[in-house]
Order: sequence, then structure tokens, then C-alpha cells
Amino acid sequence: MTARLTGLVVAAATACTPAADAPDTSVDGEWAYTVRCSFCHDVPNGIGAELDAVTLASYTTVGELDRYLRVAMPHEAPGTLADAEYDAILRYMIGSRRLVPEAGDAWPLPDSTRLQTP
Ligand code: HEC
Repeated sequence: MTARLTGLVVAAATACTPAADAPDTSVDGEWAYTVRCSFCHDVPNGIGAELDAVTLASYTTVGELDRYLRVAMPHEAPGTLADAEYDAILRYMIGSRRLVPEAGDAWPLPDSTRLQTP
């Protein structure tokens, strides 16, 4: 079996059997955000606002932003994404906008963690 194929098999096996106490990191947050969110939020005249650091930090904590996304987004089908997708998208947005600069790669972050503008 080629190394590439072996990698795919390992990735698939890992995706199917996440350790019970570890966060599910099998979803690529940037990819999920691009597929699920960008067509409304990152295009000219999109129906959703630009999701810059100031807009996202206005949710004040990780928990509040997480709750909003799970209840309200994606706008056309709220609450329909897999748990791991919401989690990966949240993580990607917090990381890419540097909303919790001191956290580094730490994940998950406690709900009470304050969001800041960099
Ligand atoms: C079909 C278009 C559409 C999609 C897809 C979509 N959104 Fe939205 N989004 C909206 C609209 C419209 C609003 C404004 C909602 C309102 O004010 O009730 C919004 C609001 C938001 C807000 C609040 C912005 C603010 O000004 O407070 C956030 C955060 C957000 N979306 C994130 C996401 C994320 C993350 C995804 C992907 C999981 C997503 N959205 C997918 C249309 C969309």
C-alpha cells in the first residue's frame, strides 16, 4: 500500500473512532468555514456581514459566540452542522482573527474565555 493510501486509511479510521475525552479535530475549520459560511459572508454584496475581528469580538466570550453560531448559523439552515464542524469553524475564526491571542494552539478554550480585537 502506498504511503498516501495508508495515510488516508489512518485518517478515516481516526475520524470514525475519536477518543471519548479528546476534542474531535478531524474537520478542517478553514475548509468548513469556506464551504459553509463564505458564500454569504465573504463575497461582495453577500447577505451576511463581514466577519471581522471587531464583529466577532462583540460576542465577548468563546461560549457566547459558540452559542450564537449553533443556534443561528448557517442562516438558511440553523443548527444543521455536525458538532465537529461548529467546533472547527469556531476554532478557525478565533485563530485566524486572533481573538484570543494568548491561547496559542490551546483547544478547546473554556466558554468564559474573553474575545478581544488584536
Ligand atoms: C445563507 C447565508 C448565510 C450563511 C450560509 C451563513 N450566514 Fe452568518 N449570517 C447571515 C445573515 C443574513 C446574518 C445576519 C443575521 C441576523 O442579523 O439575524 C448572519 C450573521 C452572522 C453572524 C453575526 C454577525 C454580526 O454582525 O453580529 C455571525 C458571527 C455569522 N453569521 C457567522 C456565520 C458562520 C460561522 C457561518 C457558517 C457556519 C455562517 N454565518 C453562514 C447569512 C449567512
